Amino acid sequence: MKLAVPREIAADEPRVSASPDTVKRFVGLGFEVVVEAGAGALSRIPDQEYEAAGATLAPSAEATWADADVVLKVRRPDASELKLAKSGALVFGIMDPHGHEDAVAAMAEAGVSAFAMEFMPRITRAQVMDVLSSQANLAGYQAVIEGAAVFDRAFPMMMTAAGTVPAAKIFVMGAGVAGLQAIATARRLGAVVTATDVRPAAKEQVESLGAKFIAVENDEFRQAETSGGYAKEMSDDYKKQQAELVASHIAKQDIVITTALIPGRPAPKLVSKDMLDSMKPGSVLVDLAVERGGNVEGAVAGEVAEVGHVRIVGHANMAGRIAASSSQLYAKNLFAFVETLIDKEQKSLAVDWDDELVSATALTRDGAIVHPAFAKEGGES
Ligand code: NAI
Repeated sequence: MKLAVPREIAADEPRVSASPDTVKRFVGLGFEVVVEAGAGALSRIPDQEYEAAGATLAPSAEATWADADVVLKVRRPDASELKLAKSGALVFGIMDPHGHEDAVAAMAEAGVSAFAMEFMPRITRAQVMDVLSSQANLAGYQAVIEGAAVFDRAFPMMMTAAGTVPAAKIFVMGAGVAGLQAIATARRLGAVVTATDVRPAAKEQVESLGAKFIAVENDEFRQAETSGGYAKEMSDDYKKQQAELVASHIAKQDIVITTALIPGRPAPKLVSKDMLDSMKPGSVLVDLAVERGGNVEGAVAGEVAEVGHVRIVGHANMAGRIAASSSQLYAKNLFAFVETLIDKEQKSLAVDWDDELVSATALTRDGAIVHPAFAKEGGES
């Protein structure tokens, strides 16, 4: 069994899909592990550490992919990579398939079995494989650090001989995995933190971190959570009431961090141009939803946008800005899943295609698109 760890080819992707620790474990499972030279460089993992863990280094993408039974990626493989893949190879990554149906079809045509790690069900058994959580947690932390770097004032209250510096006021919109870590990080830095979410369960979590919860708490709010624990789209009336409450709150904030997402839909627009205008000069917004359309009007993916007298931090791939940490966790998520696809006695691949983790994540198999959300796009071929 050959397992390949290619260097990520996207220019803005510094993460890597394996760590020396997971390489060692894969070798222990009976894999021959091949790592492309330089794969870990931007995550601060030198080639020698992979070698010491039992991997062989390959000088090129061709040599890395050649004949591999399992390929671990961060991003979805592009056409140039798929050309190198062995038919039947299992390829794992954050596949981002929504809106990229052509790329899903290309993976089917290449004959690979592609697994979208972000579709991992959020059940107890799969917590250790949950890439959305591992990456969102670090992105939430990093959002606060990036916001602090752009903010021209201090976070904590400082009482000095020369006078008092007031504590920064931070408002976190969306209190899921990223938002909760942003709250915790901002609190550690000494800010006064408030937060909002449309899921009622978030209120207690926000308060347990020492932040104040801000929301219109009517009947609709009390029922607003899907059985999967995700947010659902709110009524126009609720959105209007919530927007009014939020507008008066935002006018008093120094930093707003937005993380609000609804699975399978564009990010909800939460902060309007008028709200930006109401803020003090030098206020900062960090939009973690920018790659899904953005929560903040005027946010630009990959840029720090100046809108009037405020700045909106719109870095893409926030988890990638803390790559050494996010790669460690991502690598562990992948190992935990791939380990379940192995017959440990026979030291061979033994994928149970009926397993719920496999069926939830498998996009393609044997030349066809097999995931129910995408199969209609021509997968019956
Ligand atoms: P997400 O990334 O889909 O969304 C982020 C947050 O934005 C969510 O809390 C959502 O409610 C909120 N949001 C959506 N629309 C909003 C709006 N208009 N205004 C304000 N907030 C809005 O969510 P994430 O972080 O992936 O977590 C969703 C849920 O899944 C949470 O309840 C989390 O605790 C749960 N979870 C469960 C896990 C497990 O059981 N293994 C693992 C990880 C998360």
